[in-house]
Amino acid sequence: MIIAVDGPAASGKGTIARALARHYGLPHLDTGLLYRAVATRVLRDGMDPTREADCVAACDFSDTLLDDPWLRTDEAGQTASIVSAHPLVRSALLRRQRKFAQQPGGAVLDGRDIGTVIAPDADAKLFVKATPAIRARRRHTELAKAGSSVTYDRVLADIRARDERDSSRSTAPLVMAADAAPLDTSTLSIEVAVERAIALVEAQRGK
Ligand code: DC
Repeated sequence: MIIAVDGPAASGKGTIARALARHYGLPHLDTGLLYRAVATRVLRDGMDPTREADCVAACDFSDTLLDDPWLRTDEAGQTASIVSAHPLVRSALLRRQRKFAQQPGGAVLDGRDIGTVIAPDADAKLFVKATPAIRARRRHTELAKAGSSVTYDRVLADIRARDERDSSRSTAPLVMAADAAPLDTSTLSIEVAVERAIALVEAQRGK
């Protein structure tokens, strides 16, 4: 069984995808980390994230980079959003994601284009969303806990900028697949959101 979980930054899609993977005993891939790894290499090598050729050269990063905590920073996320708009970066990372999706027992993948591009035939597709204000509140709390002094307004502005960039790019933009089930987590606790996600997967896989 392949489960595709898409949605904007800080919507809760990562938490939901991990919980689904645990529930169904499936491997999980956070595809945002791949773009974050490319972004990190581009920055560390002094290259330019807006130049497609620089970013393509950074796509052969080593797997150990995926464990680097810096990949989880907001700066890595913003830069990932820039590098991910280049079509050649997306095609360089495509095969790796498809291979993960097509392993024998199935898999859970989360990202922006899993249900539309990476696994259009997935057995279940969720599109997780929440209002920008709520996503910014969650992300701000997380960053503050980690010791960051960034303001809520800054986080909200970054989230809006990322939504705009991810939704307006011409290759594989962030859109809900026609056959995905929407899940708005704005007013839900994590526990309830996960319960709903499982119910939505069950309803789709029976079809
Ligand atoms: O999910 P995330 O915040 O880790 O993603 C970081 C950026 O990577 C996001 O702003 C856009 C890009 N991304 C993408 O274009 N396609 C994906 N499948 C996953 C992430």
